Amino acid sequence: MVIDATALHKGFLGPPPISVLNGVDLRVAPGERVAVHGRSGAGKSTLMNILGLLDRADSGTYHLAGVDVSTISNRERDRLRSREIGFVFQSHHIISHRTVAQNLDLKLDILRVPAGQRAAMVEQALAEVGMLAHLHAQGRTLSGGEKQRLALARAIVAQPSLILADEPTGNLDDGNSAEVLDLLSREAGRGAAVVVITHDTRIGMWADRTIILADGAASETTT
Ligand SMILES: Nc1ncnc2c1ncn2[C@@H]1O[C@H](COP(=O)(O)OP(=O)(O)OP(=O)(O)O)[C@@H](O)[C@H]1O
Ligand SMILES: [Mg+2]
Repeated sequence: MVIDATALHKGFLGPPPISVLNGVDLRVAPGERVAVHGRSGAGKSTLMNILGLLDRADSGTYHLAGVDVSTISNRERDRLRSREIGFVFQSHHIISHRTVAQNLDLKLDILRVPAGQRAAMVEQALAEVGMLAHLHAQGRTLSGGEKQRLALARAIVAQPSLILADEPTGNLDDGNSAEVLDLLSREAGRGAAVVVITHDTRIGMWADRTIILADGAASETTT
């Protein structure tokens, strides 16, 4: 399993104190595409932050790629996150005063990929998202859809075992949305687990499984 989470609880002190996750169980295997639905405030981002090692659950167990994350140091968590997870956030976090290539190279630098291997990885990821022609463009000159695709390229450039995407098609037209979903399917095809948080019910058709978050628990509908 890439994700193996059991009885996750998470609350916030407030005020008022609230309990957001109330025993969430989730298992996602390599190559699976999972959509997560739920009303605004249901706890989707809270869950994504925990699965992405950006926040900790109050209780429960979480194994990511076989590692029990409750037992490791913060530094090891950071390393595990960089190595195993590619994030696609709705706000894309592209560095505007760096080129497209530099935005991707930064990710590989963090992972200490040898310099001689990076250019080919950067070019391959950009080719995957149809952005190779923009290799030397500055981040700030890209359109919204191009920024979204660059964010995707950054998520896949190091071939993570888990891709976590929060509304990856949120700002895109139908054609670009379909391309993004195709790309995520190809990543699943090479063995990545892909978890997409979305309000877009069309993604339910694309996913292998759909999870509904409600009342602090995750329930499953098979599509
Ligand atoms: N750091 C925090 N401190 C206090 N409350 C928080 C914090 N983060 C989230 N919450 C609350 O937890 C609940 C779940 O928030 P979350 O962001 O996970 O919802 P969501 O399902 O992602 O919603 P949306 O679809 O609107 O993005 C909300 O009621 C929110 O106000
Ligand atoms: Mg959210």
